[in-house]
Amino acid sequence: MCGIVGYCGYRDCSDVLVDTLSKLEYRGYDSAGIAVFENGEIKVKKSKGKLKDLKAKMEQCGKPVGKAGIGHTRWATHGKPSDINSHPHSGEKVAIVHNGIIENYKQLKEFLISHGETFVSDTDTEVVAKLLGYFYKKNPENPLATIQSTVNELEGSFALGIVFEDFPDVVYATRRQSPLIVGVGKDEYFIASDVTAIISYTKNYYLIDHDEIVEMKQDGVVIYDEYGEEKTKELMTADWDAESAKKGGFPHFMIKEIHEQPNAINMTIKPRIFDGMPNLEECGITRENIKDFKNIYIVACGTAMHAGMVGKYVIEKLARVPVVVDIASEYRYRNPIVGEGDLVIIISQSGETADSLEALKLSKKMGAKTLAIVNVKGSSIAREADMLIYTHAGPEIAVASTKAYIVQLAVMYLFAFQLALAKETINENQCRFLTQELESTPKVIEKILAEKLDMTQFIATKLISADSLLYIGRGLDYALSMEGSLKLKEISYIHSESYAAGELKHGTISLITENTPVIAVATQKNLLEKTVSNIKEVKARGAKVILVTREDFSVDKEAYDYLITLPKMHDILMPIPTAVPLQLIAYYTSVERGNDVDQPRNLAKSVTVE
Ligand code: F6R
Repeated sequence: MCGIVGYCGYRDCSDVLVDTLSKLEYRGYDSAGIAVFENGEIKVKKSKGKLKDLKAKMEQCGKPVGKAGIGHTRWATHGKPSDINSHPHSGEKVAIVHNGIIENYKQLKEFLISHGETFVSDTDTEVVAKLLGYFYKKNPENPLATIQSTVNELEGSFALGIVFEDFPDVVYATRRQSPLIVGVGKDEYFIASDVTAIISYTKNYYLIDHDEIVEMKQDGVVIYDEYGEEKTKELMTADWDAESAKKGGFPHFMIKEIHEQPNAINMTIKPRIFDGMPNLEECGITRENIKDFKNIYIVACGTAMHAGMVGKYVIEKLARVPVVVDIASEYRYRNPIVGEGDLVIIISQSGETADSLEALKLSKKMGAKTLAIVNVKGSSIAREADMLIYTHAGPEIAVASTKAYIVQLAVMYLFAFQLALAKETINENQCRFLTQELESTPKVIEKILAEKLDMTQFIATKLISADSLLYIGRGLDYALSMEGSLKLKEISYIHSESYAAGELKHGTISLITENTPVIAVATQKNLLEKTVSNIKEVKARGAKVILVTREDFSVDKEAYDYLITLPKMHDILMPIPTAVPLQLIAYYTSVERGNDVDQPRNLAKSVTVE
């Protein structure tokens, strides 16, 4: 998704803008640009491609020199990636950068054309720039009123960085739906789409609410509410530092983040376990206030939805409450049967995913209680939900989610244990045992990381020329296979599908030909025999089987070609260790194929548009 930044301070603004934009590269982008006040004039530089292309352009034609300005990385929505479509866009005496989508841009464009405006780009953003110019002409003394009049006309989502030619060295910003923060340093201020951009300059920031307007100068920042009244905001402090957002000696963020999983689990579960028992009171969850829920919906997108799939199996098994898992973009448009007495759990790493946020709002409107499981502090989903459990994965930079997924699983377990206690479907001793097993997962992952890197790398070399592969499993292994399959396809670009092993015979087995790779996951004792029968069926049809199972299970050698064994844990906890080799296989396959592991093509880290 697009990233926006802005700066007012004592440093070279162009350098700061490019540097802060480089921290947002992980969001995905295809062009970049900046606008800087140089001797009172707005100088714009922009380019299709990566930041290095913008830098090369500035080396050739000179970079703007000044102390205040705005910058942008663009992930194309309206109009292809090109120099012209790149931001900043300009109107009468104004330049802007924008993250989001203006839904009524066509009507606004027609209106502006009828008033003599002309357009050079295909973007919705240029319409906002021209509309700002239109209102500014009517009231050139008052940028605040200009911004208010403009946003009043906009439908959709936006975070905007704005500079007016007549107000040199002042940066304005506002937002609706799309995220925006203001970084507060010493004699310098920043705007950014997220904290990652500014963390190497300051850890202090304000969260900007819908329709608030920021007025930022080198000597201070003022935030106005939608009525133009000055607001006092709480200054937040990030609980991680610039080092967390660096590769720290690893070749890619993804592999670094895979290695951070043991610590991420500890950080997430330790503060929620007292005396060997789960305790989610600080998140507003007590046995008393969850015991009466009759139905649970888990709504999310992508990897977060897959964490929900594991959650479904675990909650249903332990707490005996029916759980429906839904894709947020489907849920919100299908008039879901949800209401009072139901709990809707929204899972999201970023806390900004547009469909998940809307699903949350809809659920609240329909009378359900909502619980958000979110990684990014102060994000929109975190702020909207009735109950909130933060995961503590730290910043996740690689587009492919790994450590955020693992901690989503960890939270699913804590919640399921707590619910099962509340429902009295497990007793305290059983809960203590399961909690202990959960607490041991970081050590188990460390062991896997110490022992399985070579094997997963070797397996990757067997997958690189495959056209397509299958992941199969039953029960929790099936839920986990979905995530293994998504991870592989998003970064290796090899098609793959996950399938419930028992369902293969009903159609999909016809895809198996000589040497089709099949990754079979078999970690559940009660399902082992059945899964092995399914594995033998694909093996008999020529599949190359990679079996992921437990070291205490013995499986006929004829059933597989390559074997990955995992330490023994209670069946229900097995998804946590099992996720790791599946992540590694995807990672190494992408590396072997020479792909951009951390920024796979066409993908964005935070999907703030529908
Ligand atoms: C895949 C991946 C995505 C996200 C999805 C939801 O590796 O990361 O599928 O899980 O876009 O994002 P969040 O969790 O931010 O709501």
